[in-house]
Amino acid sequence: MTAQSASLQTPPVQPATARDIVLEVKDLSLGFRNADGLLPIVTDVSFSIAKGEAVALVGESGCGKSITASAIMGIAPDNAEIGGTIILNGTPISGLPPKERRKLCGRHMGFIFQEPMTALHPTLSIGRQMTDTLRHNLGLSHAAATDRAAELLDRVGIPRARDILKGYVHELSGGMRQRVMIALAISCGPSLIIADEPTTALDVTIQAQVLDLLDDMRRELNLAMLFITHDLEVVGDFCDRAVVMYAGDVVERGLSADVVRSPAHPYARGLIDAVPGHDDNRTRLTPILGTVPPVGQWPQGCRFAPRCSRADAKCQTRPALEAHIRSDVRCWYPLEAAQ
Ligand SMILES: Nc1ncnc2c1ncn2[C@@H]1O[C@H](COP(=O)(O)OP(=O)(O)OP(=O)(O)O)[C@@H](O)[C@H]1O
Ligand SMILES: [Mg+2]
Repeated sequence: MTAQSASLQTPPVQPATARDIVLEVKDLSLGFRNADGLLPIVTDVSFSIAKGEAVALVGESGCGKSITASAIMGIAPDNAEIGGTIILNGTPISGLPPKERRKLCGRHMGFIFQEPMTALHPTLSIGRQMTDTLRHNLGLSHAAATDRAAELLDRVGIPRARDILKGYVHELSGGMRQRVMIALAISCGPSLIIADEPTTALDVTIQAQVLDLLDDMRRELNLAMLFITHDLEVVGDFCDRAVVMYAGDVVERGLSADVVRSPAHPYARGLIDAVPGHDDNRTRLTPILGTVPPVGQWPQGCRFAPRCSRADAKCQTRPALEAHIRSDVRCWYPLEAAQ
């Protein structure tokens, strides 16, 4: 259990009304065309995020979490073929021309990536990067943008904000860089933040501080947050709902408390069993046998079947994502409560 766990108790989730929904992703699919045809990378991904809500996108490496986020942000590679609908604050954005989409997304979505060095420019001062963003998206004067940038750095816990604005990203520690990324992400007053493994590259103490800061920001600014992570403890402690992905598919979707405590999909169960100390025996760790099949080599039917102890002939047919006891599950043989 990480240090922040005790302090990050999420309140009960109220049902979201249509007016509260910030992001709606409906039947999103993404593939790349090659000589053999279309190579699917993600298929039929659907979920929504309401104001003030954190939704976790969770799964092993290569399951399609980041590529799903890139499709939402409108930064998927040019050769990607994307289907489905993405709706931001009631406006369908998936069909917009790239320029309009960038404008809308720059203003209404903030991004935080795993490695801030790839997102922040190494030879532009931090102040220049922040004021450019503020001036471009909000039309602020240079002086107003500088004041706002200093306020934002102050807000995310960076001391000597005016001095830091004159400095460069390589002069900062990993935790400070991630605070700058958070300041940039919230700078234009977005309604949605997409955070792709924002703490993976940080040491444990700093991870806890950055998670606390993100949680504070979400509550204070009533932000919708898509939180991509491998860490199921973070899902349980920090997110209201969870979307579990396996090989490009959503395999379980529900309240994170339910998915973490009592998962219904054997894959989600396997992820939880692989967390050290998930049960009373703090040393037990049960890895899921095998690996995620590479794209292009997904089995017909249930993609998890080759790794699943419950699979039988029926699993040669692809299951639909259907309501089970407490969550939506894509499985012919979902688990009953707490197995
Ligand atoms: N530009 C691309 N062209 C072809 N395949 C790609 C491209 N980008 C990603 N992929 C493939 O899409 C699949 C999903 O990748 P993605 O980066 O979304 O995984 P992920 O779930 O974010 O994994 P991780 O936890 O390691 O970050 C991977 O098999 C990856 O190789
Ligand atoms: Mg990723």
